[in-house]
Amino acid sequence: MCGIVGYVGDEQALPVLLDGMKKLEYRGYDSSGVAVINVQSVVSTTGQTTMTVERKAGRIGELLDELDGTTIEGRIGIGHTRWATHGAPTDGNAHPHRDCTGDIAVVHNGIIENHDVLRQRLISEGHTFVSETDTEVAVHLIESIIESKGCSLREAVLEAVSILEGAFALVCISVHEPDRIIVARQEPPIIVGASATAGLVGSDIPALLAYTRDVIPLDNRQIAEVMRGSVRVWGFDGVEVEPETVHVEWDMDAAEKGGFEDFMLKEIYEQPEAVRNTMRGRIDGSGRVTLDEVSWTVDEIKAIDKIVVVACGTSFHAGMAAKHSIEHWTRIPVELDLASEFRYRDPVLNSRSLVMGIGQSGETADTLAAMSFAREMGTKVLAITNVVGSSMTREADAVLFTHAGPEIGVAATKTFLAQLVAANIFALYLAQERGTMYGDKLTETVEAMRRLPEQIEETLLVQDSVLQAAKRYADARDFIFIGRGVGNAVALEGALKLKEITYIHAEGYAAGELKHGPIALIEDGVPVVAILTGEPLYEKMLSNVEEVRARGADTILIAHEGDERARALANELFEVPTTKPLLSPILDVIPLQMLSYFIAKEKGLPPDKPRNLAKSVTVE
Ligand code: G6P
Repeated sequence: MCGIVGYVGDEQALPVLLDGMKKLEYRGYDSSGVAVINVQSVVSTTGQTTMTVERKAGRIGELLDELDGTTIEGRIGIGHTRWATHGAPTDGNAHPHRDCTGDIAVVHNGIIENHDVLRQRLISEGHTFVSETDTEVAVHLIESIIESKGCSLREAVLEAVSILEGAFALVCISVHEPDRIIVARQEPPIIVGASATAGLVGSDIPALLAYTRDVIPLDNRQIAEVMRGSVRVWGFDGVEVEPETVHVEWDMDAAEKGGFEDFMLKEIYEQPEAVRNTMRGRIDGSGRVTLDEVSWTVDEIKAIDKIVVVACGTSFHAGMAAKHSIEHWTRIPVELDLASEFRYRDPVLNSRSLVMGIGQSGETADTLAAMSFAREMGTKVLAITNVVGSSMTREADAVLFTHAGPEIGVAATKTFLAQLVAANIFALYLAQERGTMYGDKLTETVEAMRRLPEQIEETLLVQDSVLQAAKRYADARDFIFIGRGVGNAVALEGALKLKEITYIHAEGYAAGELKHGPIALIEDGVPVVAILTGEPLYEKMLSNVEEVRARGADTILIAHEGDERARALANELFEVPTTKPLLSPILDVIPLQMLSYFIAKEKGLPPDKPRNLAKSVTVE
C-alpha cells in the first residue's frame, strides 16, 4: 500500500506534506519520511545538496517528535507513509530514498520485481546502496540515466519506467529542477492536481482535498509533470495526452474510505488488488513458482514428512482450506491446530516437521507462542503474515508476506483472501520442488490462480443480490452455514464473519455432520447458507440442502453461475464464477463477507469496530 504526498507551490511544503501524510496513514504506518528542497540555497555549481530529508520508523507521530517543531524551509517536497514490503520497517528503509549525490529523492508505492538484478547492475556501475528496499534501485537508475544522457528528470523517469518491472507509483524531485514533481504510475493509484498557487500529488484523494477538488487520477502507464498551477501528462510511450479532471464532492471522511461507507466494504472491494499483490513476482512467465523467501534446499523440502498449521480466527479458516491443497498436491499429511490448543496437547514434532503459522497481524499471542514452541522442538517454521517486521516474522525461518496492504476493519476480509492465495502458492511450490504434481496439472492450476483477480472482480457484482438477502434476514435469530471439503472452511468463515459484526448467533458446520445434532435447530424460516461449488461433493451438498428445506429452512446458496438445480432450491442465490475446486474458497467467501457487512448496516451496527473484538489479540 503506502501513502504518497507531493507539494510544490507558494506555501511552505512541510506542513502540507505532514497534513497529507496524516490523512493517508491508513495506507501504511510502519515508517514515514519527507524530502524538502530549499530553492534559495541551491548551490548547483558546488554540487552541494540542498535537499533535507527526515525519516523515522513508526507512525507519523514519531517523525513529528523527531522534527520536534523544527521547520524545514522549502516550497517543494515529497512525503511518504510506508507499509513495508522489502526491508524491515526501520529508519534506514523509510522513504524518501536518494541517489548517490543526494540531489534526487524518490518515494514509491508498489513492488519493483526486478530490483535484485538492477541493484547488482547499478552497484557494478559504482552506485552505493544504503537501504534494503526495492525502491532505492529506482532512484539510482534515474541518477544513472541522467548521468549518461544529461537529460531532464522527466526524460530520465520515462526511460526508467521502461526498465523497471512490477508495480509502482513513483514520485520524484530533484534539486536541479526545483519547480516540478515527476510522477509515474504502473498499477498502484496516484492522483495529481493543481490549483492557482500549488501543484499536488497524493496516492489518494484525502491528501489533495484541502487544496483542490479537481483532481486527475493518472491512468495506468502514465507520467505527469506537476508544477504550481499546471499538470502535464504523457503515456509511457512519450506521447503527451490531455489529462482528465474529476471533480470530487466527497467530504474528508468519505474520501479516506475511498467513497465507501466503511473500511470493511472498501477492503472487500480491494480484494482483486490484494490478491494480485500476493501473487506478484511469485509465479514466473513459464508458470513456475518462485519463492525467494524460502531458502530451504530441495533435499530439505523433500525431507518434510508432516506439516502442522497453527492459527486463530479467520486465519485458522485459511489454514483449514490450505490443508486440503497441501495434502492433495504434495501428499504431505497436514495437521491443523488452533494455536491456543497446539502447545498444550503435547504435539509430536521433529526436525522433519514444518510448522506453518498464519496470521494477518503477525502479533496474535497464541500463534506466536505456538511458533516459538515449534522452534524449541527443532522444527522448521514458516510464517504467512501481512505485516512486515511483526513479531511472527521473528519466530520463523521463512516468511511469506501476503502484501494485502493495511486492513483497518477489525473483521478480516482481504487479508483472508491473501492468506488463502499465499498458502496455495506455497503448496504449489512444495509440489513443484518435490515433483508430486504433473507439469501440466501445475501449469493448469497456476493459470487458474492467475485468473483469480478478475474472477474476484466478477464475484463482487453479487452485491445487489446480497443486499436483498441482508434486508430479508437481518432480523433472523440464528444462521447456519454448511459446506463440505474446502467449502467447510468457507462455511466456518461465513459464520464467524456474521457473529463478529452482526452479533447474530451463527453455526458453521461440515454439512455431513448436520444430521448429528444441529439439524435439531432447523425450524420454519431459519436461514441456512450452503456452499455448493465444490465439484466432487456437489450431489451430497444438494441432498443436505434438500434435508434442511424439508424441515422448513430458508436456503441461501452459493453456486456456480448458471447452476439451475441450485436456483430451483434457493430462496436466495449468490452466483460465483468457476475456478479449480481447491481455489473456490477465494471466491465463495466474498458474498458471505458482504452478507455480514450489509446485515450489520441493516441493524445499524458499526462493521469496522465490532464490540469486544480487537484487530490484533496480544494476550493469551
Ligand atoms: C482477532 C481478529 C480476527 C482475527 C484473529 C486472528 O480476533 O479480530 O479478525 O482473525 O484475531 O488474528 P491474526 O492476526 O492471527 O490473523
